[in-house]
Amino acid sequence: MRCIKCDESYSKDEIIFKCDCGGLLEVYVDVREISVGKKDLARRPGGVWRYKEFLPLDPRARIVSLREGWTPLYRAKSIGGEIGVKDLFIKNEGANPTGSFKDRGMTVGVTKALSLGSKVVGCASTGNTSASLAAYAAKAGIKCVVLLPSGKIALGKLAQAILHGAIVVGIKGNFDVALALVRKASEEFNLYLLNSINPWRLEGQKTGAFEIVDQLGYEAPSAVIVPMGNCGNISAIWKGFKEFHEAGFISELPRMIGIQAEGASPVVEAYKRGEENIVPQGVPETLATAIRIGAPVNAPKALRAIRESGGRAEVVSDEEIMEAQKLLARLEGIGVEPASAASIAGLRKLIDLGAVEEDEGVVCVTTGHALKDPEMIFNHYDKPLEIDPRIEELRRVLRL
Ligand code: F0G
Repeated sequence: MRCIKCDESYSKDEIIFKCDCGGLLEVYVDVREISVGKKDLARRPGGVWRYKEFLPLDPRARIVSLREGWTPLYRAKSIGGEIGVKDLFIKNEGANPTGSFKDRGMTVGVTKALSLGSKVVGCASTGNTSASLAAYAAKAGIKCVVLLPSGKIALGKLAQAILHGAIVVGIKGNFDVALALVRKASEEFNLYLLNSINPWRLEGQKTGAFEIVDQLGYEAPSAVIVPMGNCGNISAIWKGFKEFHEAGFISELPRMIGIQAEGASPVVEAYKRGEENIVPQGVPETLATAIRIGAPVNAPKALRAIRESGGRAEVVSDEEIMEAQKLLARLEGIGVEPASAASIAGLRKLIDLGAVEEDEGVVCVTTGHALKDPEMIFNHYDKPLEIDPRIEELRRVLRL
């Protein structure tokens, strides 16, 4: 592992999440040593482990997998036509086993936990990370502890954490507070931390980029749009594109575009000010609860991804997020949770601003399934009709 700030290196088996200098760590993969070719990859089943040479785990490790990844890359002609992009694709990460992209990170993260001999894993979460970790810990047969901002978790996600048998602890405070506490717990107790500050999580998540390239026939899109919360995913996806570029699998790199909700946008603000450091927001607020985060730990990696790739960062309002959720659901048949819709809402805004052109190949990553947050749907969409079971009544309400 290597520090992104001072270049200090650490053994891959050290349990450490930040460099002594305070910088974030990343797993260094020497792509020159990887000899696997496109044809070899094509012969394997799709999913995270198709790209195993790029995941430098102990070869003897017991792989903990729920067959994550190989999520559909949909050509979104209807929505593209509506918002004015000819080649729009949706990488629908809601199709993963627990309904979010977190599964890519957890298959690698929990595999790593086992190879380090950990018996307890833990995380703080706005919901999806906890749902995913709970399921992978169950599969691995180890204990799982999740710290959640009390009363602020979408129902589907909370239900999953409970269902898979995690020890669920509500915290009186927001995600940032819960993350600070679980980080402390990982130093004091024998608990392996699996938030995205753990660079092994991001190794799994970088396969999202590999799949986009693979599914596009070994071409990179012009722009990739990703919702940002704790900022692990955009960083991981960028790392994936860079590694495939170094491996000679693609000749171009995409622009990485990160989207935050207006009420939780410290990274977009730092980007717009041209600064390296974010100003944390004490009370982040948005109906996209997954990305209600005021002090994203991976902000330096995300800002680097955006700047290195010549991309940008933008905010969208809750109204724009809801409109985008509806468009995806009703024009494409793709049901996503609000945070996911931020990528489409962001694309719409960037087209209006002239920052994305009509003839660019664009991939929007939709990060979590609609059923994660059913309450949001009941609260903001039309209520179902209710009638007496008579044909006249049915005719009256249907007006057919
Ligand atoms: N979309 C969804 C559906 C998410 O659950 C998250 C993060 C993001 C986007 C943002 O990804 O943090 O890598 O920038 N959810 C985390 C969680 C924070 O706890 O489930 P990020």
